[in-house]
Order: sequence, then C-alpha cells, then structure tokens
Amino acid sequence: MDKSKKFYVTTPIYYATGKPHLGHLYSTVLADVQARWHKIQNINTFFLTGTDEFGQKVAQAAEKANKDTKAFIDEFIPAYKNLWKNYEIDYTHFIRTTDTYHIKAVQQWLSDLMQKGDIYKGAYEGWYCTPCETYLTEKDFEKDVKNPLCSSCERATQWVSEECYFFKLSEYQEKLLQFYKENPNFITPKERAAEVVAFVAGGLQDLSISRTTLKWGVPFPGDEKHVTYVWADALNNYITGIGYGQKSKEEEFQKWWPADMQILGKDIVRFHAIFWPAFLMASGLALPKKLLVHGWIKVGDQKMSKSRNNSVDPQGLYEQYGADAVRYYLMRQMAITQDGNFSLDDLEQKITSDLANDLGNLLQRMVMLADKNGISEISARTWTNQEKELKEASDEMESVFRKEMNRGFCHMALGAVWKFLNQSNAYFHQNEPWLLARSDRDAFHRVLSATCYSLRAAAILLWPVMPKKMEELFLRIGYPFSLDVNHVAVIGATWDGVFTLQKGEPLFEKPELKNQELDNVEESTKIKEEKYITIDDVIKVELRAGTIIECEEVAESDKLLKMLVDFGEQGKRQIFAGVKKYYSPDDLKGQQGVFVTNLKPRKMLGQESQGMMLTTKDAEGTVAMVRPGKNAVNGILLQ
Ligand code: MSP
Repeated sequence: MDKSKKFYVTTPIYYATGKPHLGHLYSTVLADVQARWHKIQNINTFFLTGTDEFGQKVAQAAEKANKDTKAFIDEFIPAYKNLWKNYEIDYTHFIRTTDTYHIKAVQQWLSDLMQKGDIYKGAYEGWYCTPCETYLTEKDFEKDVKNPLCSSCERATQWVSEECYFFKLSEYQEKLLQFYKENPNFITPKERAAEVVAFVAGGLQDLSISRTTLKWGVPFPGDEKHVTYVWADALNNYITGIGYGQKSKEEEFQKWWPADMQILGKDIVRFHAIFWPAFLMASGLALPKKLLVHGWIKVGDQKMSKSRNNSVDPQGLYEQYGADAVRYYLMRQMAITQDGNFSLDDLEQKITSDLANDLGNLLQRMVMLADKNGISEISARTWTNQEKELKEASDEMESVFRKEMNRGFCHMALGAVWKFLNQSNAYFHQNEPWLLARSDRDAFHRVLSATCYSLRAAAILLWPVMPKKMEELFLRIGYPFSLDVNHVAVIGATWDGVFTLQKGEPLFEKPELKNQELDNVEESTKIKEEKYITIDDVIKVELRAGTIIECEEVAESDKLLKMLVDFGEQGKRQIFAGVKKYYSPDDLKGQQGVFVTNLKPRKMLGQESQGMMLTTKDAEGTVAMVRPGKNAVNGILLQ
C-alpha cells in the first residue's frame, strides 16, 4: 500500500423517504468507480455514503404514510444496503444522520460556531421549499409574485415566519470568490462552476439554520425549541462520517480530511459549493479538493424522480442484466457534463455491441482458438512492429484513461478503452490466427500472446467499473489479481509474462432481443420455403384470443407497452408487446387480439411477460395487431 497517498470520496446522502432509484444508483456507482480506481492503484481509500434522515421532507413523508418517523425511515435502509451490495458498491462506512455520533458532532459544531460568533439568533421571514429543503433568496423570484415557485424544482413554496439562528454566510462572499479563483478545478465540470461564481458574486445573505415549527431534526444546543436546518446537519456528514467530533477518532479524521472528491447531482450544487465551503471555512477546516457534479438521468424530457413517478427500479435492472452491465452503461452513456436519457434499448444495445461483441468475443475467440489447437499456456514472444504498435496503443490508453478518471470524466476514460479494444480486435482479425495455427506456429503464439496482454490491460482499467466480470476475465487468462499491488503500473511494464488460459462461458450474455415478441412473430410469419415444419410443430403453439383490459406505457422503453389480457376461463395475464410506436394504450384498451399463451414467461425490467401478442408488419414496417374472428370467446384456442 502506498502510505503516502490516500483517497477520500463521498456520495450525497439520500433522503430516506423511499427506495433508491436509478439516479441514486448513478451517484453511488460514480463514487464506487472512483474508489476502486484508487484501490486498484494500491492507494488507501475511504468511501462514504449514507442516508439523510432529518428535515421536513422526511417528516412529512412519514406522516403521509401514517408511521412513526424513525420506524418509517428504518424500513428503507435495507433497500439501500441490499441494492448497494447487489451492485458491488464497496463503501467503507454507511452514515445515517440519526446516528448518535453524528448528532453529537453536529451539536458540537453548532456550539463552536456560536462561540466564534459565526452563528447568531434572529428572525426569519420568507419562502421555503420543502422538497428541496431550501429558503428562497431574493434573487430566486420576482418581487411581485404572490406565491413563488422554487427556483430549483419549480414546486410551490410555503411562507415561513419564525425566530431562528443564522449562519453569517454574507461574511464569506469574498473568501469564497477568492477560493474559486485560486482553485479553478474545485467545481467540475467548469459549466457548473460558472453558475456558482455568478450566484455568489451577486451577493450572499445570512442563512437561516434552525426551525421552531419542526420537531424532526438535530436539537439546537442550548435552545431546544429549535431544531437544526437539515442542510446544516446533512452536509456535516462528510466530516462526522470519518470521525470529526469524536475524541477517539481524531487521528482518523486527520488522516482522511479533506475529501479528495465529493460527488453530487447538479440540483444540489449550491449547497455543496457555497454553504459547505463556508461552513468549513468558519470551522477552520480545509476545503474538499473537488466537487464532481453530474447531470440528471432523464426519462423522456423529465428528470427521473420518485415524485414524478417515472423512476426506474435498479433492482429490476440488476435482475435482468446483472450489476456490471448496468454499471458500465451508466458510466459510459452518461457524460458527466450533461443530462442523459435512460432507455432500455440503448442499454441492451451497449451490452450487445460493447460488452458481448467487442470485449467478450475477443476473449472467447482467443481462448477457444488456443484450446482447439491444444494450447493453454502462452509465454512472451519476439514482437514484430505490429505488437509494438499495439503495446504503444495500450500505453496511450492508460495515459488517457488516467487523465480522464482523475478529473472525473469516466465516460471519456471508457471511450479510450474502447478505442484500444477496437485496435486489439483489428489486430486479431487482420492476423487471422486461425490460419496461422496451421501455417506458422510461432506467429500463432505471438498473436495469442499479444491479445492476452491487450485483454489484461483493458481489464485492469475496466475493473473499477465492472469488478466481477473483470475478475472473471483475469481468471480466464490466468492473471493473478489481488488488491495489494498497483495493477495500473503493470500495464506499462514490459510484456514478458506467461498466461494460462481457461475455457468458459461467454463473459457477457447478449440480451434477448428486446421485442422478442415482435421478432418472433416476424420470424414465424416469414415463409421459409426451404424449411417446412410438421403438424406436430404447429400444435405445440397454443394461440388464444384475449381482450386487453388494461394497457400502459413502459416509461423506460421506446417500444414496450404493458397489457393485462383477459383470457376468460383461462384467467388474466400480464403481457408486454413492442408496439408503443404504433398504438397508444387507449387504442388497445378493449381490443381483442391473438396471443401465444404457452411461451416460456420472460422477465422484462424485473416484471414477467406471460405471453406474446401476434402482429403483422407491412412493407413500410408498420406493425398492426392480429385480431381473431368476430366475437371470439376470450381464451378460446385458435386452430
Ligand atoms: N439529501 C440530499 C443530499 C444531501 S448531501 C449532504 C438529497 N438527496 S436526494 O435523495 O434527493 O438526492 C441525492 C442525489 O441523487 C443527488 O446527487 C441527486 O442529484 C441524485 N439524483 C436524484 N435524481 C437523479 C436523477 N434523475 N439523475 C441523476 N441523479 C439524480 O438531495
């Protein structure tokens, strides 16, 4: 372990008002990838995540559910922890803001700042947004508006008028501006920094940091009719989670603070880039080195969120595609600088083209070819210019990857790996090793060997994103992997090792074609003159008439509609069909169609499709449902 270096990374702490959705997973995978990127270089790493459990938003959600607040929150914690486990999120500590050590440390922090004069008592009157847990400032709305909407989430705000404690935020305006100037990479990407600087330059008001109208919060020290404003409590998790305020953990805290990278979504940049540094300045603590601000995952044009009811359940994706493929998709598809759309079609396409074809196939073809020719051990050869070029490309990949990962641009880093994988695939195919196996054994070995080095280099860099799959790849080429060496340094080393190959299943499974229903129908309706089937084959397929009694869009898919189909005495079934482009749910409701009812059920987005709707496709590619004859009885068998 390189003791001279350390890496401390954090995620935002999530409001414990529901199960985690894909947006939460995205922030967390970004942090996990950063942590692993340092672990694989044998750097001592601390990764903090957790839940934000106080404040009006949480209290209101519990009240709505008619539950005791703490009991309500407790129910969601396993959902977070299990999901993180499934997705290989290897955090060091999970903080809950209701943890006693956190509450005590926040109270100590408040007392210290009160003593220093950075916190004072006053009165607050103004607009408050509960979903964002934020006070509107004068800059946030037009003066003559009656009940302004929140400038961030655009929902209605409430008028708050109460005695409260203030933090002297206004005193930090110049210091903050100076800090941003001296640390131009503090807020990454740059576009986000510009917004923050403009906001601060426009003037800062003191910040109300306590509430009297709310009970669910950290009690204010010395004045218990107040509770702490949730952001003043929550932001401090980044220091209390590593020992701040606990005597026995002072050394630990000194070791990890300041954070090297704090990951957050663009909706909470103001809190992290203005309040948080000001709080730290007031406490005399160093500021984090980098805030990595990501965009939103959207469905259609909208931010994915629980309140918009358009959130994708990451557990369903995990069950269908596995953790590594989803992690890869999130890291590759989402550019850190932008919002990105989530679509199942894209996800499946990326799994097929990038993972199964470019990466998995290269490994599979190489190992199978070696096996077919009785080779399981491959040692280094004398390299020709071709391999030297490939090695240079590998070094180039490593250097671009390092630069991009260190600034937090994971999608760019992955782009460099795929550029190299394309070069490696081209090298493999151009050399036609399947012919060399017969004509030139030495050259054959050389191509296999160089391909092993390429795969190893790519897999080392991909391990932070797809740990399980890459460990499988290491096993298949016999590369010993444990976290006590700097593997990234191995990439640039001379190519002079031995690989031991092992046969196995393809590394990535190609997802079944999304609209299998459609495709199957296309296949079965194609007249294949050369291939007749027998009557036995025909009667194997159970076709029944059924009425679509419910139908809705599947938000995460461009093609799927979800239907509930009534088959009379045969019961009702949930069936997905790839006809969203051609029918709206209302078009289909009440319509009778023809369905294959003995098709093996398959999972789509974690839900079961229990049949397949028959359709036709005309010359223009327009799809239409097949209908049974007039007034067919639901459930009747078509023969
Ligand atoms: N509790 C506060 C954070 C306190 S940190 C001291 C909070 N919680 S949250 O649950 O609403 O959101 C947490 C994180 O999830 C934020 O970084 C937010 O941007 C991210 N996401 C929530 N929905 C998202 C998307 N649709 N897309 C990407 N990330 C989004 O804010």
